[in-house]
Amino acid sequence: MVAIATDRLTKVFPDGTVAVDEVTIEAASGEFLVLLGPTGCGKSTILRLVAGLEEETSGHVLIDGQVVDRLSAKDRRVAMVFQDYALYPHLTVAQNIGFPLRAGHEPATGTEARVAEVAEQLGVTDLLHRLPGHLSGGQRQRVAMARAIVRKPQAFLLDEPLSNLDAGLRAELRTDVAALARRLGVTTLYVTHDQTEAMTMADRVAVLRRGVLQQVGPPAEVYGDPATLFVAAFIGTPRTNLLQGAIYLEPERTVVDLGSQLLEIPPNEALAGHHNDRVTVAVRADALRPVPDGGGQGPVLRGKVRLVENLGHEALVHLDTGIVPTPIEESRLEHPETGQHLADVIAEDPPAGHPFRQALARMMPHARQEAQPATARTEYGFYPVYDAELADQPPLGDVVVRVPAPVLPRRGESMTVRVDVDKLMLFDRGGHRIRTA
Ligand SMILES: Nc1ncnc2c1ncn2[C@@H]1O[C@H](COP(=O)(O)OP(=O)(O)O)[C@@H](O)[C@H]1O
Ligand SMILES: [Mg+2]
Repeated sequence: MVAIATDRLTKVFPDGTVAVDEVTIEAASGEFLVLLGPTGCGKSTILRLVAGLEEETSGHVLIDGQVVDRLSAKDRRVAMVFQDYALYPHLTVAQNIGFPLRAGHEPATGTEARVAEVAEQLGVTDLLHRLPGHLSGGQRQRVAMARAIVRKPQAFLLDEPLSNLDAGLRAELRTDVAALARRLGVTTLYVTHDQTEAMTMADRVAVLRRGVLQQVGPPAEVYGDPATLFVAAFIGTPRTNLLQGAIYLEPERTVVDLGSQLLEIPPNEALAGHHNDRVTVAVRADALRPVPDGGGQGPVLRGKVRLVENLGHEALVHLDTGIVPTPIEESRLEHPETGQHLADVIAEDPPAGHPFRQALARMMPHARQEAQPATARTEYGFYPVYDAELADQPPLGDVVVRVPAPVLPRRGESMTVRVDVDKLMLFDRGGHRIRTA
């Protein structure tokens, strides 16, 4: 198999949109690399550039170490599977799977055997005579995969191939798809906005934001050691708590002043130049543990229970702490026409057809335009930052804590949580990590 790489790959569309901005990544031979990021961050454009369906503005695509910028899509020998599968409705499953062979003018003799072979690999042998209209979503997905591998591509490019399926099937198929790619040993670029897919399927995850690569690493690394505030905020369920604070290096101790509360943190040389600096503190729910009131020794946060989301085996408890949360991005979220802050506009919940909704649709054509149903907030792994950035700003001082069932606190009760300060992550005002470990 072959390595797939991009070198400072850039795509600027004629209307000035910088969809991909100097992205350099490499999927090693046989690797399953996931491109993860919110809608509109340039994932599909990167795949299309690699496939040769789109021409780069600058930079290069390399397959097996060779620059392929001038090679046509067909000669790149990569297979792409799209979100909507794009099966031919009037062709049977067998004809759909065999289609790339006939289109490639390969000798007809081998076709049938090859179709049977990949049908077997994908477990769709029984469906070969059916039309796509008579298949379930999961079956259509498998047929699309079969069609993609029939010509033995050098690489797979998969663009949100599971996002049209319901949650249960998605969970089942993500294991299947990753296992298949590994069994075939095919180098794979897999695009998704779903962090759970990325975490469960990837050898490595590449996190993108607005066309810019934020971080590449194994799932445990992007989760446990995020390089930027965006990565810390985007990855993590429940939502990562982001709090505004300031660092004070006192003679006896180092503290993060969160306004209404104070956390003492271990002294650290990395903080030497940061006395008085404003920072964002990212603290995941797994660094917070409820303790009996009073809290005993050690760093704690205190709050009042505002909301309890019961998930059965545990609950997500939202605390009002009086601490100011950090919006992911304060400065750039302005209505392109009126200059009004998007959070304010969204708070007014403009109806469909409102100029803002239209502007949003232009900025993010694939973004859902309707509000997210309440239950989706707590579905594991589905938490697009697009919502957190724009539509779903947490209320002031909202800190989310996991509490194991069955003893759940009640609304209005006060609660103390012990903070594992070794798991606090500090970011400077530019959103860059201040590494303390
Ligand atoms: N043909 C196009 N013309 C202008 N802008 C485009 C075009 N295709 C995509 N874009 C823009 O480029 C950005 C990246 O899009 P895309 O790669 O589809 O993102 P993703 O797949 O991550 O959702 C978006 O802002 C999108 O609106
Ligand atoms: Mg896309």
